[in-house]
Amino acid sequence: MSLAPWRSSLARALHRNRSLAYARYLQLATVRPDGRPANRTIVFRGFLDDSNQLEFITDDRSEKIAQIQHQPCGEICWYFPNTREQFRLAGVLSLIAADEPNETLCKARSIVWQKLSDAGRLQFAWPHSGEERSPDANFAPDSPDAIAQRSRNGIEPPSNFRLLLLDPTSVDHLELRGDPQNRYRYDKAENDEWKKVEVNP
Ligand SMILES: Cc1cc2nc3c(=O)[nH]c(=O)nc-3n(C[C@H](O)[C@H](O)[C@H](O)COP(=O)(O)O)c2cc1C
Repeated sequence: MSLAPWRSSLARALHRNRSLAYARYLQLATVRPDGRPANRTIVFRGFLDDSNQLEFITDDRSEKIAQIQHQPCGEICWYFPNTREQFRLAGVLSLIAADEPNETLCKARSIVWQKLSDAGRLQFAWPHSGEERSPDANFAPDSPDAIAQRSRNGIEPPSNFRLLLLDPTSVDHLELRGDPQNRYRYDKAENDEWKKVEVNP
């Protein structure tokens, strides 16, 4: 698969903003089953090998799961402060679980898990996200769930760990630098070819 034309602009932005850890944070919008929007911050984890799909991680107990299963369309909005540019990537979301039949995707899920820090992994042993916090809720690294998780030697992801992929179908890139500003739109056609158009900012 060939790299989409917007990939080089995004790679440049990631490189020029690499000093800022938060430049890997972006907002993901999904659609609730009743049609209302939902939005949250997530961390960009890289690209799925040889593809234009972006990798994220999430917990299958979070609300976004039902939203994505109901409506897989999603959009991310990503601002890079050093270079003052915004990327909006819209496309199709997919969730990769332990029972994923595609071997490549199953392996990608394990690799992302293995790259996570201990603190990142621990969150998957925390009590159910979004539920009312109970006085006995145990978030400690020595909670029974955390100990059980570590006993897997950090190799096998827990069952609630999901690799989340975004396969973009349109990209809107706005550069604030410049007078006037610059804006480009990329759309993927039926034949999988990308078309780039320069539009008014
Ligand atoms: C800086 C930052 C990074 C975050 N990274 C992630 C992430 O990578 N994956 C994730 O599921 N939630 C992440 N969260 C938490 C989400 O914003 C959100 O609170 C959580 O996923 C529950 O969202 P939901 O109820 O819409 O599913 C992050 C939050 C912040 C503030």
